[in-house]
This record gives sequence, C-alpha cells and structure tokens, in this order.
Amino acid sequence: MQPSKGNILIVDDTLANLHVLTQMLTERGYKIRPANSGNMALKSVQSTLPDLILLDIQMPEMDGYEVCEKFKADNKTSDIPVIFISALSDVFDKVKAFSVGGVDYVTKPFQAEEVLARVETHLRLHRLRQELIQSEKMASLGRLVAGFAHEINTPIGVAVTSASTLQVYAKKINKLLEQEEVDIDELVSALEMIDEGANLTLSNLERAADLVTSFKRTAVDQTSEQLRLFDVKEAIKDTINTLHNRFKKTAIEIHITCPKDFVIYSVPGAFEQILTNLLMNSLIHGFDEGKNAGVIPITVRREGKHLHLEYSDTGKGIAPENLEKIFEPFFTTHRGMGSGLGMYICYNIVTRQLHGSMTCDSTLGKGVQFLIDFPFERM
Ligand SMILES: Nc1ncnc2c1ncn2[C@@H]1O[C@H](COP(=O)(O)OP(=O)(O)O)[C@@H](O)[C@H]1O
Ligand SMILES: [Mg+2]
Repeated sequence: MQPSKGNILIVDDTLANLHVLTQMLTERGYKIRPANSGNMALKSVQSTLPDLILLDIQMPEMDGYEVCEKFKADNKTSDIPVIFISALSDVFDKVKAFSVGGVDYVTKPFQAEEVLARVETHLRLHRLRQELIQSEKMASLGRLVAGFAHEINTPIGVAVTSASTLQVYAKKINKLLEQEEVDIDELVSALEMIDEGANLTLSNLERAADLVTSFKRTAVDQTSEQLRLFDVKEAIKDTINTLHNRFKKTAIEIHITCPKDFVIYSVPGAFEQILTNLLMNSLIHGFDEGKNAGVIPITVRREGKHLHLEYSDTGKGIAPENLEKIFEPFFTTHRGMGSGLGMYICYNIVTRQLHGSMTCDSTLGKGVQFLIDFPFERM
C-alpha cells in the first residue's frame, strides 16, 4: 500500500458531494475524513488534525464561513489550510472567504484535475512553510553554536598563554636552583609570576567551564521539548550568557527582576527560545543592530500557578500599522535579512506548547512591551 499523501477533512452537507470528492481524492492516495456538518467537522478535528480542509459554504445551521472562523480562532487548527467549496449557483462572497482565512476555493460541479491541483498545491505550500519554520529553529541553534565558539575562544586563549608562562617560569626556577648561589629575589619574583599565571589560568578555565555548562543546558534544551524542573532566573541568565557576544559591544543594559529560587516544571528550551528571539529583536530592530543605547527590563512574577513575564525595551518601537502583524509568519520590516518567523515562533511556543498567552504593545519611538503568561506545575 502507498503511504498516505495527506489527511483531508471534507465538510459538506450534501452526501453526493462528499462521495464524489472522497472517491476522487482516495484514488490519488489521500486519506479522507468526511463530515456532513460544521459541528461534526469541529468535533472531528479534536481527535486527529487534518493536513487540509475542504469546506462547503452553504450548509444549514453553521455555514462554511463560520466554521472556518472557528478553525482559525483555535490555535490547534489555525494553521491548517482551508479550501472553500462553492456551487456555481451560490452567492459566493470571495472577499469574505479569504478574510475569514480561506486560502482558495473550488466550484461545484467539480473538475477532478482542478480540485486535485489545488489540493496538492496547498498541501505543498503548507509543508514548505513548516520546513521554513523548522529551518529557522535550526538556524537559531546554529547562531547559538557560533556565538558559543566565539565566546569560549577568549578564556581558552588566555588560559593557554598563561599556562605557557607557567612553563617558562618553572624552567627559570630550575635554572636558578642549578646555580651555586641562588638569587633569592629572582626566585621569589619567579614564584610570584607562577602564582599570578596559575590564578589567571584557573579563572579563565572556570569561565570556559561556566560557558560549557550553560551552553550544554541551552543547546540541549533548544533541541528538545522536554519538561523538567528549572530555575527561572538561571534560565534567563543562561540565555543572556549565550548572547553575550552580541550584546557586549553595545550600550544596552539588561535588567532582570525575578524571584529567587523560583523553580518551575516546564519546557526550559521553549522558555529560552522565546527570550532569545525577544532579545535578538530588541538588539536588531529596537536598537538598530546595537548602535543605539537603551534598557531591556525583564520582569518575572509568580501569579498562583502562572508565570507572568513582562519584557520591554526602550528602543524604536513598532508602528501601529505593523503591530497587529508581528505575530504573522514571514512578517518582517527587514526584508532580505530577517525571516519574519521569530515572533511567529514565539507566539506559537507560548500558546501551543506552553498553553499560555502572549501580547505585544508599543509606542513608536518609546519601545515595545511584551506580556507573556503561562501555567506551570510547581513542585
Ligand atoms: N523589539 C522590537 N522593536 C522594534 N520592532 C520589533 C521588535 N520586535 C519585533 N519587531 C518588529 O517585528 C517584526 C517581526 O519580527 P520577527 O518575527 O522576529 O522577524 P524578523 O526579526 O526576522 O524581522 C520585525 O521585522 C520588526 O519590524
Ligand atoms: Mg526576529
């Protein structure tokens, strides 16, 4: 048996239509789930999510537009492409069909090739979009690795240099001791150099070890969606640590206000990815690639079984006409440089993975403010 090319939910109150479409698409290797009313369709998606929905407009009780609006309002189903079905004889409001979130439409009586072409195209577009989102996530991991490599270079370099001076002075002491009359002053000064060199080696290796620890945590977390206990303040610090080389040459100050020992059971990778995206956006968009100075206050509060995060920056802010678009996939004011997926990914992590909410407010010229709230298990 051929593997299924995709799961399609067909919603139509006319059984004959359901039948024709089911047969047409099954023959081409699609898996079909029929529903003969809007309510049935809404129930049906609760068990398995389809890859695409074919939705009749004219239906008793709840019409197609309304069903589509319900799909789009639900985070679980909002991304599934909806193709409307309209009869030539229907009064079909195309503008309304697109404004409620439809991506396309087919008309009855069906032309098999046309229906198949549209279904295939939208399934392909949808997959492409998912792939882009995945590659953006991988790219952010790539940036993390690059940043880490850069960051660990300095302490390792210093440690190597000072370890080699240890060797030089150890040899020098050896030589001094071979002489008949040992010059105590020189011996003491060589020992002092060794002490200094050892301290420098140690502190730099400690810094490198710290970096490895926080990198290990963030890199592993960013690639997994695992739930574990973690300290919120530590996670924020780890994230800032991994972005250190992007922020160190700027006059941007990050202020963290977070309760001590605030340990939650949640997905640390998700939490860190949200922060990374917000911080990178403040740097790039808010503070013009770090050319401008400013402050990023991050405030975390515990509210019962919810974590409440207030993230803001004192950067350029977002124009009112763009504000409502920033959570849309591919919306960017940095065309050619940004993917426009950062905020979309954040929004999805918060609403889908963490089952919380995320909003954004901004005054042009004054900066942005993001409010994030999600439930967690307390141990
Ligand atoms: N802190 C911020 N300050 C100003 N503009 C922002 C900020 N964060 C996001 N934006 C705006 O939102 C848009 C979408 O952000 P995002 O989804 O991360 O895409 P990208 O960073 O690739 O452009 C940005 O292009 C920018 O216009
Ligand atoms: Mg971004």
